[in-house]
Amino acid sequence: NYYAVIMAGGVGSRFWPVSTAEHPKQFQDMMGVGETLLQLTYNRLTSMVMRENILILTNENYKGIVLEQLPKLKEEQVILEPVMRNTAPCILLAALKIRKQNPNAVMLVAPSDHWIKDREAFKKDIESAFESASQEDILVTLGIQPDFPNTGYGYIRFENNTGKGKDAIGLHKVEKFTEKPTLRNARKYLEEGNYLWNAGIFIWKASGIVNSFEQLSPEMYSLFESGKEKFNEKGEKKFITEVFPKAQNISIDYAILEKADNVYVIPASFDWDDLGTWGALYSKLAKDPQKNAVVNAHLMPLETKGNIIYTHNNKVVIIDGLEDYIVVDDKNVLLIVPKEKEQEIKEMRAAAMEKY
Ligand code: GDD
Ligand code: MG
Repeated sequence: NYYAVIMAGGVGSRFWPVSTAEHPKQFQDMMGVGETLLQLTYNRLTSMVMRENILILTNENYKGIVLEQLPKLKEEQVILEPVMRNTAPCILLAALKIRKQNPNAVMLVAPSDHWIKDREAFKKDIESAFESASQEDILVTLGIQPDFPNTGYGYIRFENNTGKGKDAIGLHKVEKFTEKPTLRNARKYLEEGNYLWNAGIFIWKASGIVNSFEQLSPEMYSLFESGKEKFNEKGEKKFITEVFPKAQNISIDYAILEKADNVYVIPASFDWDDLGTWGALYSKLAKDPQKNAVVNAHLMPLETKGNIIYTHNNKVVIIDGLEDYIVVDDKNVLLIVPKEKEQEIKEMRAAAMEKY
């Protein structure tokens, strides 16, 4: 009864120039381990979910890349969106399809661009989430211990006072879910304690999340539900092409999780990072004795400290006298920017694209 949905439709613009709209970060070997982030995500899940029960949702532009990177997938396991509408429409569509295939299905929803270190711990947490979500109609999230007031995440305030019942098995009722708070509120949450970051990985019954949409996002529900006869049939593709552009552009976090009252959280026992920026990637990579992280490159040992160096074709890199920089050599772009300016790369990209 277990299914998985991998969302692979984002663009990852802060990882420019390696991540581009033509080739976003989830399709790249960002860690330099010989597998792309999408392949790592898929391979993490195959020990828990049967291969034929894994769906990939992505933009139609990426169909070729997905099938090339995951050759074991059948074409009908890749659901193509004609336009980007964020994660709520993508998840509702997948849930309706899965529910039609199997009314008792329990589905996991996963992003395609995260770093997860301990596969065994991940598996243990997911199995316990699958078990809990099979038993009742609850929306299970995985929570990460926060260590700074990151405003790019969802914050989960959970109840933890009994040590009995669900609490005893590490499943806590969520009191309040706040997506991407202001910096002020994020700081306040960290001071208060009892908050976790939302890892963006969800486990629920397909029928249960469809019901949540019906209650909390009725317009989107009616839009997609009108095609229920067509799912997994011939007319499906045409239906998606027609209906998707009409859907509201909104994430599942705002559309459902902030409003639902049956959300639970399992504090994750694995190391996790959303790999949002070059700095985040740097912190997860192995370093040389001078604290450089080197991906797809050979760095000469000179006076070069604390940099992240990334080339697209295993270049020999000679740099002397540079500290705490991002150095990225891609086919058409060479980027050399201090690590502290990583958030500005998004704008640099936009400016460069306009000019050249
Ligand atoms: N198929 C599809 N279609 N996938 C999409 C789309 C879309 O239109 N938009 C985004 N995705 C994919 C991305 O590729 C990514 O794998 C995942 O959905 C999550 O989207 P992000 O855009 O990366 O979300 P976020 O990082 O801002 O926020 C979410 O993740 C955080 C943890 O990383 C939220 O769930 C936060 O609450 C959470 O803390
Ligand atoms: Mg993200």
